Amino acid sequence: MKFLKLLLLLFVLQTQAQQGGMWIPSLLQGMNEKEMKSLGMKMTAKDIYDVNHSSLKDAVPHFNGGCTSEVISPKGLILTNHHCGFSAIQTHSTVDHDYLTDGFWAYKMEEELPNENLVVTFIVKIEDVTTQVLNGVASLTSEAEKQKKIQENIAFLSTSLPKESWQENKIRTFFEGNQYMLFVTETFKDVRLVGAPPSLIGKFGSDTDNWIWPRHTGDFSLFRIYADKNNHPAAYSKDNVPYTPKHFLPVSLDGVKEDDFTMVFGYPGKTNEYLPAVAIAQIANELNPAKIEIRDRALKVADGFMRKNNAIKIQYASKYAGIANYWKKWIGETQGLKKSNAVAIKRDAERAFQQKIIKAGKQSEYGNLLADFEKNYTEIAPYALSRDYFLEIVQRNTEMLSVGYKLYQLEQVYTTKGEQSFTDRKNNLIKDLGGFYKDFNAEVDAKVFEQLIELYATKSPKQFIPASLSNVNAKNLAADIYEKSKLTNYNGLKELLTGDTKTVLANLNNDKGFQFVKELSDKYHKDVAPKYDEINLRITALQRAYMKAQLELNKDSRIFPDANSTLRVTYGKVKGYEPKDATVYTHMTYLDGVMEKYIPGDYEFDVPKKLIDLYNAKDYGQYGEKGKMPVCFIGTNHTTGGNSGSPAVDAYGNLIGLNFDRVWEGTMSDIYYDPSICRNIMVDIRYVLFIMDKYAGATNLINELKLVHPKQVKAVKKKNLRKK
Ligand code: ARG
Ligand code: GLU
Repeated sequence: MKFLKLLLLLFVLQTQAQQGGMWIPSLLQGMNEKEMKSLGMKMTAKDIYDVNHSSLKDAVPHFNGGCTSEVISPKGLILTNHHCGFSAIQTHSTVDHDYLTDGFWAYKMEEELPNENLVVTFIVKIEDVTTQVLNGVASLTSEAEKQKKIQENIAFLSTSLPKESWQENKIRTFFEGNQYMLFVTETFKDVRLVGAPPSLIGKFGSDTDNWIWPRHTGDFSLFRIYADKNNHPAAYSKDNVPYTPKHFLPVSLDGVKEDDFTMVFGYPGKTNEYLPAVAIAQIANELNPAKIEIRDRALKVADGFMRKNNAIKIQYASKYAGIANYWKKWIGETQGLKKSNAVAIKRDAERAFQQKIIKAGKQSEYGNLLADFEKNYTEIAPYALSRDYFLEIVQRNTEMLSVGYKLYQLEQVYTTKGEQSFTDRKNNLIKDLGGFYKDFNAEVDAKVFEQLIELYATKSPKQFIPASLSNVNAKNLAADIYEKSKLTNYNGLKELLTGDTKTVLANLNNDKGFQFVKELSDKYHKDVAPKYDEINLRITALQRAYMKAQLELNKDSRIFPDANSTLRVTYGKVKGYEPKDATVYTHMTYLDGVMEKYIPGDYEFDVPKKLIDLYNAKDYGQYGEKGKMPVCFIGTNHTTGGNSGSPAVDAYGNLIGLNFDRVWEGTMSDIYYDPSICRNIMVDIRYVLFIMDKYAGATNLINELKLVHPKQVKAVKKKNLRKK
């Protein structure tokens, strides 16, 4: 009987642990630790996070604010994704030594390349500071006043709470303002490029394979952290020395099999797991489709030009990838929300929750929450849609308009902040836009303009478009503006911005392109933005109360805070999935799959000759598995953007993989995590080692690592036990 109960408990814990979640590393003791152990973890919560002793968290720095990295050697060597190191690799590339194409390897430390503006940040400790942050807030009545007081408290605490001189205090909100945490951090500023595979490995499959399983990308690059002689952060200096970490990850050579425990440790950026059904329906039915249609058109135009003209292909490749990334994600997200019935499931949960509120006698406090959500989301709908059209068309995807918008803001700066600010900003703009115009093609952009303005005029809420757009002929308008505006080339822009402030402002207001942007922007800032902000502030307050209610009334459920770019732990198992009828995906890909996708000469699917040779010779050294070379694998870890570069570790905390993506069918996990189809994608660490060693010959780096065989050790132990 007892045994049965235990089995049942284990089963419940295991299935619960498959429900996703991104947990705060300092708060794992209790429920999470139990779940993790039920999934096979052999570490304790303290091995993952400890203030007084070194722990896993000391090996996982935030990489330049947007990605994650992990320390893998006692000499400060760190690993992250190729797409996270991309701009550093690109910056060092020239026609003569093209590291993006050929890869880069430092065979000696002297060859490592310094990077301006590249930093990594470690977490020293995490502390709950909710009481201090909310001090004096409860007595205030208006939401705006509350927010102001909170900001003041945060500013005060950040400077007054104890820390070392080389450290920083950062306070972040959790559970939509119900909890505040202090992070004491150390930011290292001398981070050098150590290694990167050629793009045909590091970006293999590019946009076609992006968000897709089965995947075959070796998405990794290597950097090294340098510190001053006290091992503290310092600006670049040739006298700096390799950083000695408090902890670095041993690397497992044993690989993974289905159902193995995995944990991903990193800095997920933003999720919205606690939206009411009405908000999810809005995203799935209105906002995402609008954004997808806009980008669809922009991408089609660019693709048409890129296919015909190689110079344009080079100019637009990176921009295209950027636009395509979220375009594709939104499509997957929308389909996933529908397929998993997220809206209906949330509606059911909301009905049950309403009953709970009644049962708990909390109607006066929480009884109206759901109805208020309904009301406010209905009210914000046209503003939110209009806002997305404006952001996507004016600020993002029509390049001439996006420059025009920067100039519009410049004019605002003159009115609000005066001449000096105006001049400073103007000079910065002139400098910054040089690079922009290098990759700008007016012919491409005119076509994008035509396509997107047509959408803006016909599809965005009518009441918010300026008069001149109703009945507009987008083709004629494009022809007129791109012929007459000076914004279509760098010299034209500089001409517009030359002279004293009066002249510049007059020049701008005489320019057809600027006039058009100004008309759109004025309308947006007068009729859309203020109202949107006002309703959104109410929604924020509701969201906070809703969260508070859930924390109070759902005490035993697995409630985790939405991602907010702070360090989190997510865990699960190595697992395949079945995205649709009769389609089964297994958990692992191999080099054979790279060769199946191989298209000679293709910019996405070509394969370097040396890799083909290694494949033909089956020369995988200690990294292969039964004559095959593993490449990527998937698991049930709940990740999002920002988790790129995150370490995937085994039950003991050894590195087994490098997170870099999610499967397309599961990208709705930012809003609703469905354990049956949500999977994260990782490069198998053995593929990383194989490329470093066999492909690049970087044995200097391999020698720095601590390679381990946890499974073999376990097997030997078992055998010895049996002998006894
Ligand atoms: N989808 C992955 C992540 O958001 C990888 C993006 C980089 N790769 C690409 N082909 N654009 O963000
Ligand atoms: N590629 C993403 C990143 O850059 C990670 C994929 C995801 O969104 O899960 O962080």
